[in-house]
Amino acid sequence: MTALSTGRHRAAAPVDAGLEPVADGSVAQWTDRYTHAVMDTFGAPQRVLVRGEGPYVWDADGRRYLDLLGGIAVNALGHAHPTLTAAISAQLGTLGHISNFFASPTQIAFAEKLLSVAQAPEGSRVFLTNSGTEANEAAFKLSRRTGRTRVLALEGSFHGRSMGALALTHKAAYREPFEPLPAGVEFVPFGDADALAAAFEGEPVAALVVEPIQGEAGVLPLPPGYLARARQLTQEHGALLIVDEVQTGMGRTGAWFAHQLPHIGGGVVPDAVTVAKGLGGGFPVGALITFGEPVSTLLGRGQHGTTFGGNPVASAAALTTIGVIERDGLLANVSGVGERLRSRIEALGHPLVAGVRGEGLLIGIELAEPVATEVAARALEAGFIVNPCRPTTIRLAPPFVLTDEQAGTFVDLLAALPGRLTEDGA
Ligand SMILES: Cc1ncc(COP(=O)(O)O)c(C=O)c1O
Repeated sequence: MTALSTGRHRAAAPVDAGLEPVADGSVAQWTDRYTHAVMDTFGAPQRVLVRGEGPYVWDADGRRYLDLLGGIAVNALGHAHPTLTAAISAQLGTLGHISNFFASPTQIAFAEKLLSVAQAPEGSRVFLTNSGTEANEAAFKLSRRTGRTRVLALEGSFHGRSMGALALTHKAAYREPFEPLPAGVEFVPFGDADALAAAFEGEPVAALVVEPIQGEAGVLPLPPGYLARARQLTQEHGALLIVDEVQTGMGRTGAWFAHQLPHIGGGVVPDAVTVAKGLGGGFPVGALITFGEPVSTLLGRGQHGTTFGGNPVASAAALTTIGVIERDGLLANVSGVGERLRSRIEALGHPLVAGVRGEGLLIGIELAEPVATEVAARALEAGFIVNPCRPTTIRLAPPFVLTDEQAGTFVDLLAALPGRLTEDGA
């Protein structure tokens, strides 16, 4: 056992998957096999993980990590949550998959529950998907049904990697190798409401697509009032307001949706919201939610589809994840633990920490120097998973079940970092 594994937890065991148990192996052996079998789009894995429990995961060498990234804002209930595991197993053992020529009670109950937490008015509907990208792809197609093709998105945006979602994504390095992308998307400066108003003066706009807090760009919340102004402008100009809550939705910010927070949303009712990530607690599921009558009928019969979307097992996962969040009061835990964690990091007064941003358990720690990769590497060595989402920003998106005590161990790690670090770790 290494210093990082505790006596209370068993070390990594051979993984039992498929008909044969997967042979035992070390992190190094598995990493080597990964590089020969998996396409190199993500780079070499930082560790090969074999199991999880609550907010912790263990690697193939038996080392334990506090997972402060939560599978990039996905593992809302932590790992191997017994209620979620039981619900998924029960659904799979009863009815695992049907086509969309049929429906299941689980799917219908999930759709109704999603509309309810979204506070969607009468006439609202959902289209169920498998990922955030697909939810945004559906939203993009929805915008084309307005009869207009000009779509506004924000600089710094991230909406996914399929051709349509990529067209809405700002980062040149992601876009350029795949051009030409679907036409009609224009980017406006982040958080600048006057620039947005000016953009509406041009050709008629089909839709504005916006994240309430840009996650991939470094946990950047929209300035207060921006969404309300965006709502007013879209309404005035007959355009759709599409809010991408793939990262911020399903409780991540302490509200079901970030746009429901008064200081972010200002009471706006969007035309559409996309959601995924935390929705299934780790099971792949996403959704496009349309608000009210006219927009909910824009995509008609035969105009969109998916084999897996609305799958009973994915629906059971989502329904149970939402149920556990409600039953265990996890939204309050997200707000409380998140707020205390942000203030404790700020209170350190550490020379490396320039500021802390975010809402609930979506947190960006801004560093005084571009050493986020080095900080993340040191954290990993010490048993913490965090994400250097840009050179000066560490992103945290831990499970909603995180306790103050667990969060405090990370604050202690930050406190112990030297006041100066360089990118190469010197
Ligand atoms: C705001 C936002 N939209 C869309 C996506 C794409 O979601 P997915 O990776 O599930 O396709 C992401 C993923 O990081 C995201 O953060």
